[in-house]
This record gives sequence, C-alpha cells and structure tokens, in this order.
Amino acid sequence: DNTLKAAAEAKGRYFGTAIERGDLGVSGEIAVAGAQFDMLTPANEMKWDTVEPSRGSYNFGPGDQLVQFARSKGMRVRGHNLVWQNQLPSWVSNLPLDQVRSAMEAHITAEATHYKGQVYAWDVINEPFNGDGSFVPDVFYRAMGSGYFADALRTAHAADPGAKLYINDYGIEGGNAKSDALYRLAQSLLAQGVPLGGIGFESHFILGQVPSDMQANMQRFANLGLDVAVTELDDRIQLPASGAALQQQGTDYAAVARDCLAVSRCVGVSQWGVDDAHSWIPGTFPGTGAATMYDGNDQPKPSYYAALSAL
Ligand code: XIL
Repeated sequence: DNTLKAAAEAKGRYFGTAIERGDLGVSGEIAVAGAQFDMLTPANEMKWDTVEPSRGSYNFGPGDQLVQFARSKGMRVRGHNLVWQNQLPSWVSNLPLDQVRSAMEAHITAEATHYKGQVYAWDVINEPFNGDGSFVPDVFYRAMGSGYFADALRTAHAADPGAKLYINDYGIEGGNAKSDALYRLAQSLLAQGVPLGGIGFESHFILGQVPSDMQANMQRFANLGLDVAVTELDDRIQLPASGAALQQQGTDYAAVARDCLAVSRCVGVSQWGVDDAHSWIPGTFPGTGAATMYDGNDQPKPSYYAALSAL
C-alpha cells in the first residue's frame, strides 16, 4: 500500500485533499492529487460567494469542474460548504433579518439539489462557534438564533438524503470550551431528530500542537452515533523550516492518522491542499508555511512517510 489512499482504503478509510480550480492547470500538483488521494474537497468553489453571488442567480460551473475532475480520478467529493459567515456575499449579510431564513433555505436547496448524488458529505454549517463556545453572531444566528442549525440540516437532508451532513469547525480537535459547546449542540440536535451525520475536525495545527486528547475527543462525538472526520489537516511551521521541524511534522501527521484509525467512526482524513507551494497557510499566517506533506516541488516530505506508515 504505497499510496495514502491505498493505505487508508485498506483500513476502510479515505485520504483526501482540497484543491481550487486554478490548481487543475498545475500538472505536478494534480498528478499527486490523483495518485495519492481518494477524496476531494473544492477549496472555494462551492462557497456561497461563488455559487450565489446575487440572490437567486446560481453559478455552479467552478464546482462542477472540480466534481468532474474528481470523477475522472475516481475520487469522492466532500461538499464545502453551505452556510458560513465568511465568503458570504454582502447581499446575504445585509438582508433584513426576516428574510434570512428563506434565503438560507433557498440557497441550501438549490446547491444540495444541484449536487445531489455527487457528494459523499456536506459541510452544512461551517465554523459556527467562537473560541469561548459562544455562537458566532453572524446574520444566520442574528436572524434565527441557534434554531438555524436544525433548519439548515433538515433543508439539506430534504434536498439530498444520501449525503452525510456535517458541522465543521477548527479548534475543536481537543477537549475545550469550543468542543464542549459543539458537543452539547450535537446532543441537542440528535435528541430532536435532526439529520446531523458527522462532525468535521478541521485540524489546522501549529507544529507540535496536536492535542494529546484528540482521539478521546473524537470518540465522544462518535459515541453519540456520529461519524467524525479530519477535514482540513495542515501543520504549519515557522519559516525557514529546519530538519528537526520537518521531523516533528511527521510525528504530528502520524499522530493524527493514528487518532483517526483508533476511532471506528472516523471515516477519513483530508489534508487542506496538496503541496506547500499552493497551501493557503503562508498567505494567511505570514512567516509560516511548509504545512503539508509535499514540498514546493511536489516531493514527499517526512510527514508523508510518517502518515503513510501510521496508516
Ligand atoms: C480557505 C481557502 O483555502 C482560501 O483559498 C480562501 O481564501 C479562504 O478559505 N477553514 C475552512 C476553509 O473551512 O474553507 C478555509 O479555506 C480554510 C479555513
């Protein structure tokens, strides 16, 4: 099993990646994506600002292109995402609050219907919590309170009953105020019969900071009857990356792979991006980078070999 996907599949899991439409023209990166990974997350192309830039006018071309690419490589697709405060067009954030529910339902219905049968899972709600466990006071929360979770999940389920429906967030990989708040929300949604199917642990880590209780934390969500997945893994290093840092990154990646394998409801791990040259990290966290398993020339790094042998 000398690819990530083969090793993951041998354990009943997947190993995914995220790419953007522009990456489709980068031959070295795309060769790695198709060879190593069996799940694809469109990094931006299914977000609200791309899909419905003005009310009721839909643009599915970019997302369709990535779905088509995935199909040509035998990869499944994680749909990302339906409801999020970011990459949200201003026409939504500026709506009168009494129109937000209908706009949200229309958006979810249109997008989930368009991709019906083509996505394995949807991140229905992305990043809804603050670090202290309070809800992000975005336009959805302001309009509907915490009732928007049930409404969004039910609407997505009606449009595509075959997709696993996720809440996805970062900073919830270990036990803390934020993951505790999400846990209580998940319990309450399930008690109401809401079709929540999984929790996505983004896992944008800083070198050496994979929480030691990640497995236990994922397990408590799995014990509610939910799938869990590592959805956006990367592990950023202060640049320039030393040899010791690259070795530590291997330790980190191996820990995440082992944590997922140790939880039977952990369905797979996805890295956010393919290689260091196209990762979002240097642009968002200046001075850091080298966050993926492939270097800028698409050569595998110590983290690649560590992840592979941990699977
Ligand atoms: C990032 C993309 O990779 C960037 O290209 C974009 O500019 C901003 O969003 N959490 C998420 C992803 O759920 O959607 C984000 O993706 C990274 C953080």
